[in-house]
Amino acid sequence: MSSGTQVGIVGAGPAGLMLGHLLHLAGIDSVIVENRSREYVIDRVRAGVLEQGTVDLLCAMGVAGGLNRRGLRHEGVYINFDGCRHRVDMAELTSGKAITVYGQNEVVKDLIDARVETGRPLYFDAQEVSVDALDATRPVIRFSHAGTSHELSCDFVAGCDGFHGVCRPSIPAGVLQIYERLYPFGWLGILAEAAPSCDELVYTYHDRGFALFSMRSTDVTRLYLQVPPDEPIANWSDDAIWDEMLRRMTTSDGWSPNVGRILQKSVTAMRSFVAAPMRHARLFLAGDAAHIVPPTGAKGLNLAAADVVVLASALKEFYETGSDAMLDGYSSICLRRVWKAQRFSWWMTTLLHRLPDETPFDHQRHLADLDYLASSRAAMTSLAEQYVGLPWEISLESLHL
Ligand code: APR
Ligand code: PHB
Repeated sequence: MSSGTQVGIVGAGPAGLMLGHLLHLAGIDSVIVENRSREYVIDRVRAGVLEQGTVDLLCAMGVAGGLNRRGLRHEGVYINFDGCRHRVDMAELTSGKAITVYGQNEVVKDLIDARVETGRPLYFDAQEVSVDALDATRPVIRFSHAGTSHELSCDFVAGCDGFHGVCRPSIPAGVLQIYERLYPFGWLGILAEAAPSCDELVYTYHDRGFALFSMRSTDVTRLYLQVPPDEPIANWSDDAIWDEMLRRMTTSDGWSPNVGRILQKSVTAMRSFVAAPMRHARLFLAGDAAHIVPPTGAKGLNLAAADVVVLASALKEFYETGSDAMLDGYSSICLRRVWKAQRFSWWMTTLLHRLPDETPFDHQRHLADLDYLASSRAAMTSLAEQYVGLPWEISLESLHL
């Protein structure tokens, strides 16, 4: 079956769904093609920290009903080392900005509901998805769905299909420069049926490795532990996980996470990755398809949001004025933010993890870094302004949402 649209979007993660909705609000047609099922996309457990700008965006897009009801606004964050929690007062240091804890899967669920309400096409369970003719005036997305083969011709293709998608590998060899760093550790993450024992996140540096206390709701705690990168989850009984969590996180004033039934557990490897430029001909990459950050600092979803705001603005300018100036600037505008987020995520990761090859000198310098952060208003301000999110490249007003 042949059909056409203005923007063909591959992937219904946060990037693809947000882009689709921004285009809808601008009166631009799109078709979203996703190779997983709706249930799989909604149930996938991911990070859950929204920058102030991402919250403002979702509100301006009119998709923040659930976020306003169930999102948890945090005005501070703790850095825990040497048995003490040190609070960074983000709101005070950034003139009132904060982060909001709201699971990425909740964001995705809300965006799917909004998409369905618009009546615009969203295909789940698409098979054999491919993109072709990227250099032509009408590139195509091919896929099959419920036994029918589709050929969708588009003005532009948005590659929002994550790190393992098909769009980035469809760009001819030699076009992209790849920048990559793997980390010699991973995160073992759990969801626990336990009320959070602290109102704010606690990032712990411990001699035995990093640990993170986070939450999903007033009844569910989310916790992470630094482990070797390829650690089999089978090595960790629930009791062993709790022993290690408590050992690393408990502070000398007696604070520790509440223990409860473990609802879900998994290990993820950590990497930093950038593919540049984020555009080839009529294909635009956005979100994890173009870049991955290690999860310390929770920038992944927020970077995806920042990319699609630039892309939606550029497409709106193109359709309204015929100018492709902003489309031409898309990659360089996005990459400035991407690299600052890469730098921040790398910095938080190396500051808070136990690095395997540290010499005694490195180790003492590392402890001094933490001590400096906890005792300097300048250092805490730098952390706070990046954690709540640097200003957007494009003002939300310019989108006229
Ligand atoms: N065809 C269609 N869809 C695909 C294909 C394909 N060949 N390959 C992957 N996808 C889908 C995935 O199933 C997923 O739903 O593309 C979507 C990509 O979504 P994400 O991986 O969530 O990436 P993105 O939307 O860029 O969001 C970035 O997600 O990975 C997290 O931590 C990251 O928070 C960040 C955010
Ligand atoms: C999470 O809640 O999943 C989370 C929070 C903060 C991070 C990473 C993940 O830095």
